[in-house]
Amino acid sequence: MSQSLGTALITGASSGIGAVYADRLARRGHDLLIVARDADRLAHRAARLERDFRVNVEVLPGDLIEPDQLAAVGQRLADDSSISILINNAGMSMDGTLMTASHGRAEALIALNVLAPTLLARAAGRRFAAERKGAIINISSVMAFMPEVSDGTYSGTKAFLLNLSLGLAEQLEPLGVRIQAVLPGATRTEIWKRSGKDIDALPADSVMSAEDLVDAALVGFDKGEIVSIPPLHELGLWEGMNRSRLALAPHLANRRVADRYLIPVD
Ligand SMILES: NC(=O)c1ccc[n+]([C@@H]2O[C@H](COP(=O)([O-])OP(=O)(O)OC[C@H]3O[C@@H](n4cnc5c(N)ncnc54)[C@H](OP(=O)(O)O)[C@@H]3O)[C@@H](O)[C@H]2O)c1
Repeated sequence: MSQSLGTALITGASSGIGAVYADRLARRGHDLLIVARDADRLAHRAARLERDFRVNVEVLPGDLIEPDQLAAVGQRLADDSSISILINNAGMSMDGTLMTASHGRAEALIALNVLAPTLLARAAGRRFAAERKGAIINISSVMAFMPEVSDGTYSGTKAFLLNLSLGLAEQLEPLGVRIQAVLPGATRTEIWKRSGKDIDALPADSVMSAEDLVDAALVGFDKGEIVSIPPLHELGLWEGMNRSRLALAPHLANRRVADRYLIPVD
């Protein structure tokens, strides 16, 4: 990931996966623009990265659920041609299920996990396409494939990001813009505690470190992958599922109703 060592804007860089991306990209020599709500934590991280890696790290505190603050980050992406990488990482999980969560929590989940990355991808993608450069990395989840396991809502937000990434790749990769969806499995970060879940209740073998996850995702990026699933050992399973999905497409538009829906005649 060089992009002539442009600046990377990372959302949710104050902890977990985003913080590791900040570390790894600074290590690779990228200047950074880091976004999250906790300004002190961001400033502390920025000072350490600047000291350790001799790069410039600008802190952009903001709540991406707030429309005006989201718009300000989008504007920066649209205007600042030094930014050549967007990492749409900030996200939250559901506390409970859609039936038990508060109205506000459900609304925030969709605002942060769907609306914010979509509008930031739009802002960055338009400029990147015009400049024939850039990369957008969307942090989705293996939950995109498993609505039955958790709650269809969090899972749906992550399926949305996978869909968005596949669609953007079709549109923007021919224009020189790289797109990658990263699908972590269970990863040891604060998101679990923040949503009232105990990651230690999972079998230890099923939990990845954020460091391993990000290092693997960057290997996937460097290989040119559009979809990277670090915990999945059998790549053929994903490829087979994707092939089946693509095989379905030519059968999905028809003037004639399928026979099973014909009104029975007695
Ligand atoms: N950990 C896992 O098991 C796992 C698995 C699959 C996918 N993911 C995805 O990975 C991404 C990163 O999560 P993580 O696991 O690293 O969890 P995390 O440690 O809780 O990190 C979430 C980040 O998002 C920021 N954030 C939260 N709400 C925000 C808001 N309203 N506005 C701006 N920033 C906000 C947080 O910072 P502030 O609190 O300072 O705002 C923090 O930096 C998420 O999209 C998550 O869905 C995680």
